[in-house]
Amino acid sequence: MDAISRESATLASLRPRLEAIGQSHVLTFADDLTADQQASLANQIAAIDLDTVPDLVARFVMKTDAATLPEDIQPAPYYALGGGSDDSAWDVRSFRRIGEDLFEAGQVACFTVAGGQGSRLGYDGPKGCYPAGCVTGKSLFQIFAEKIRGAERTFGADVPWYIMTSPLNDAQTRQFFERHAFFGLDESRVMFFEQGTMPSFDKETGKMLLASPGTIATNPDGHGGAIGALMNAGAIDDMKARGIVHISAFQVDNPSVQAIDPVFLGLHHAASDSSAQMSSKMVAKVGPDEKVGVFCQVGGRLGVIEYSDLPHDLANARDAAGELRFNAGSIAIHALSVAFVERVATDPAFALPYHRAVKKVAHVDLASGEVVQPNEPNAVKLERFIFDAIPLADASIVMETDRVEEFAPVKNATGADSIETSQSLQTLKAARWLESVGVTVPKDASGEPDCSIELSGLTAVTADRLDRGELPDSIDRGAAIDL
Ligand code: UD1
Repeated sequence: MDAISRESATLASLRPRLEAIGQSHVLTFADDLTADQQASLANQIAAIDLDTVPDLVARFVMKTDAATLPEDIQPAPYYALGGGSDDSAWDVRSFRRIGEDLFEAGQVACFTVAGGQGSRLGYDGPKGCYPAGCVTGKSLFQIFAEKIRGAERTFGADVPWYIMTSPLNDAQTRQFFERHAFFGLDESRVMFFEQGTMPSFDKETGKMLLASPGTIATNPDGHGGAIGALMNAGAIDDMKARGIVHISAFQVDNPSVQAIDPVFLGLHHAASDSSAQMSSKMVAKVGPDEKVGVFCQVGGRLGVIEYSDLPHDLANARDAAGELRFNAGSIAIHALSVAFVERVATDPAFALPYHRAVKKVAHVDLASGEVVQPNEPNAVKLERFIFDAIPLADASIVMETDRVEEFAPVKNATGADSIETSQSLQTLKAARWLESVGVTVPKDASGEPDCSIELSGLTAVTADRLDRGELPDSIDRGAAIDL
């Protein structure tokens, strides 16, 4: 009895606040719930920042016109591949040295956003568990873990790894690491934390949807939720305690990412036009329709325009040489300083905006109490994007990287960015690295490697550190080889 009255009192105390913001319908079934269900609903409501809901609904849910882009959008400048060749040439070697010093001093941590599910891939589980290795079928998580172990060995310093999960996949992700003994990493240097969630809203009324009579429907708050989650979960404090200065951040879907990249970290840290707060990597887009965000400049500030927001005429615009004007594709790899993440997470003036996505969300019909499976998109999900932090940096730089070297994402079950394209790119990258130290790689008639090669981060963290002595002289045609 005591529990019931206490929990009722909690829901009762929330009622006036919900009424004040026009959301008291979430209590429609409150009286029919058990004490536990009431407690759980009260907890869920209490975790929502209710005061901000009316503003969110007005600005992001009910606003149906497409986001208005600023008038003056210019392509972003970037540090050209391999140091470039003209007036803007830059000295790769000196920045590599600076980056290596950061790793040797144990000042760099890795961070992976792994909150998404593999739904587009048709994979039932956390995406990081997906078997991506082109020869061994190693999971994405294992591939990253080996890069990190390789870095710790090469630089003789710790590289802690922070992994953002979501409430949907946190337990499974932790179990996967435990089952695989953390892939040889020291468990004390791997930290998991969940990203936040947002209520899902009815797209017509702006009302929060109920997933069941005692549960509000929610969705993960996007990888931009990482900024707040890093802070709230204690990851930023943990980094500071370990003496970490910079974070190498990447998405869970890209096995070719150079998570350990002294050149990029060095440039981010020391380039004269970098504030050392947030930097990014780009690849030249394959064509106007490639589904990658594009780096651009608005009013002198760097930023990313998501592919879905880039107007057709800008996406297709060409310069005098016939190249895409907006060709700097974001591969969602960033370097961030710990101090910058803390500032963005704690200063309300730096709050990241929300993006709306209209989706189908099952919900309880308030009249009948039955769960309705909509046939048409009925709900607005609000998400934050991590790249919206870029314009908040005092100055931000972009470094061009090579697609084969660094971008082999596994996003779709078939076609572009599928496991098939990812695995051929993995082989292509490994072949390049091996050829750079004189290993003979068999080629087919079109010049592509006629074999499969998987090169672990334990064998070399960067191409210039490949040890020729440990490699074969040549690879057999048709071989599948794991190095
Ligand atoms: C993303 C980028 C796009 C970039 C492309 C490069 C966004 C919005 N778009 O597109 O600009 O060019 O990658 O590959 O980022 N995630 C979470 N929590 C969430 C949502 C996503 O952790 O709430 C993680 C996913 O696990 C994944 C990553 O974020 O690692 C990317 O998410 P996804 O929705 O697949 O973005 P893309 O459409 O591929």
